[in-house]
Amino acid sequence: MDSGRWSLQLFDVMLVVIAGIVFWELGRRRRTRAAAGRLPPGSVGLPVVGETLRLIAAYKTEDPEPFIDERVRRHGRLFTTHVFGERTVFSADPEFNRMVLGAEGRAVECSYPSSISTLLGAHSLLLMRGARHKRMHSLTLTRLASPAAIRDAALLPDIDRLVRRTLDSWSSSPSSSSPSRVLLLDQAKKITFELTVKQLVSFDPGEWTESLRREYLLLIEGFFSIPFPSFLSFTTYGRALKARKKVEAALKEVIRKRKQEKAAAGATMTRAAGGDKKRKDMLEELMDGGDEEEGMTEEETVDFLLALLVAGYETTSTIMTLAVKFLTDLPHALALLREEQEGIRAKKGDDEEQPLAWSDYKSMPFTQCVINETLRVANIISGVFRRSMTDIHFKGYKIPKGCKVFISFRAVHLDPEYFEDARTFNPWRWQNNEVAQLQQTGGAGVYTPFGGGSRLCPGYELARVVISVFLHYLVTGFSWEEAERDRLNEFLRPYSYRID
Ligand code: HEM
Repeated sequence: MDSGRWSLQLFDVMLVVIAGIVFWELGRRRRTRAAAGRLPPGSVGLPVVGETLRLIAAYKTEDPEPFIDERVRRHGRLFTTHVFGERTVFSADPEFNRMVLGAEGRAVECSYPSSISTLLGAHSLLLMRGARHKRMHSLTLTRLASPAAIRDAALLPDIDRLVRRTLDSWSSSPSSSSPSRVLLLDQAKKITFELTVKQLVSFDPGEWTESLRREYLLLIEGFFSIPFPSFLSFTTYGRALKARKKVEAALKEVIRKRKQEKAAAGATMTRAAGGDKKRKDMLEELMDGGDEEEGMTEEETVDFLLALLVAGYETTSTIMTLAVKFLTDLPHALALLREEQEGIRAKKGDDEEQPLAWSDYKSMPFTQCVINETLRVANIISGVFRRSMTDIHFKGYKIPKGCKVFISFRAVHLDPEYFEDARTFNPWRWQNNEVAQLQQTGGAGVYTPFGGGSRLCPGYELARVVISVFLHYLVTGFSWEEAERDRLNEFLRPYSYRID
C-alpha cells in the first residue's frame, strides 16, 4: 500500500470523528435547549385514554410501584404521562416533591376530580384554600390531633378505652376456649371510625354510630368507583351520593340538637358523651367559632366534619393491619415489639385495667420503628395530585401553568438511592439515624408518609398514637396466626423481610 492511500484513509477517519463530535455537540445543545423549555420526557399513550389503562393494569400486578418504576427507568425521576383525561407530570424526585409540597397556594394548589370533590363537600379541609385553609388546618391540628391535644385533652383515655373495647369483643365469644377468627382490616376500620365519631361529636359506639357507619361505608366506596351521572342511583357512585345525603342529614340533626342544648344551657360549656365535661369535641369547637373570621354555616360544618371522618379512616386502619401482617411474617420483630410492650404493661403492676399514659406512648422506640417502616413501604396514600398555578422550572424542565402534577411518596420511599435495600421491610433501619440524616442532608422530601408543607396531615400524631395503642393491646393480650391470604397479602408479596 502506498503512503498516499494511507493518508487519504486517515483523513476519512478524522473527518468521520470530527463530524461525529459536531453532531453530538449539536444534539446535546438541542436537547438542553429543548429541556429548558419543555415538559419532562415521557409518553402520552393512546388518544383520549392516554396511559390510563396501562396505569390501571400495572397496579394489578405484584409490583408495588410498577407504573412509575418502568417510566423512571426509561425517562428519569420526572416524567410526563396522560392519565384520567389529562396530561400529568409524575415525580419520583424527592427534591421536586419537597418543592411542590412547600409551594402550596403559591405555585401549586390541590386538585381533585370533581366526582371526589362532590363526595367530600366543597367546605372540607382538603378542598379549602388560602387564609381560611390555614386557620382551619391549624384548628384541626391544635384541637384534634396535636400531641398536646392527645396528651392533655383526655383523647388518649378515649383511644385506650375504644381500642380495648373492640379487642375484648374478640375473646368474649361463648366458646372462647377455641380461637376466634378475626377479620383484622374490618376491625381496624371499626376502631378508627368509632374513635373519630367520638372526637368529632362525642358519641360512644352504639346504634347511631353503627347506622352512620353503614351509610359511610357506601360513601367511601364512591371514592373508588366510576362517577356515573347521579341519576343512575343504582351504580356504586350513585349509591355513594345517596349515602352522603343520609350522613349529612344525620350530622345536621346532631348540630341542631347541640344548638338547642346550648341555647337551653345558655352557656358554652364543654361537654362529652355521658355528661362528663372533660373537653370540647370538634363540633363544639366549630360552633364556638372555630373559624372566628368567617363563622360556619350548617352545610360548612357538615362538610368539614365529614372530611375529617374520611381522611383518617382508610389510612390509619390499613397501616394498623399491615403492621400486624409484617410482624406476623417477621417473628423476630414481633418478639422484640412484644417484649417492649410487655415491659410497659409490667410497670403498671397488677391493675390490668390501667390505661396507657402519654409517657408510655413515648417509651416505645421499637414500636415506632415498626410504624415508620410500615408507613414507608405500604402507605395507601402513595402520593398526591396538585395543579400548577404558574410555570414551574425545575432541572431544566418547564411545567406549564395549569398542568396536573402527581408527586409520588412511595416511589421515593422505595428508591434504593435513598433507602438501602428499599424493598425489604426492615424496622431496624430506623434505629440508627440513617433516615434522620437523610432528611437533613438529602432534603425533607425523602420520607413523607404524611405529606408536607401547609397540607401536612394534621392527624399524623393521632394516627401514630392509635396504631401504638392498638399494637400494645394486641401483642400483650393475644397470639395469632394467619387464617387466609387476602388482597392486602397479595399487595405485599413483593416485599422481603430482614432479620437483624
Ligand atoms: C396512617 C394514617 C394517615 C396517613 C398515612 C395520612 C396521610 C395524609 C397525607 C399524605 C395527607 C396530605 C394530603 C395532601 O397533601 O393533599 C393527609 C392530609 C390530611 N389528613 Fe391524614 N393521614 C393519616 C391519618 C389521618 C388522621 C387520623 C386524620 C384525622 C384527623 C387525618 C386527617 C387529615 C386531613 C384533614 C388532611 C387534609 C389536610 C389539608 O388538606 O390541609 N389523617 N393525610
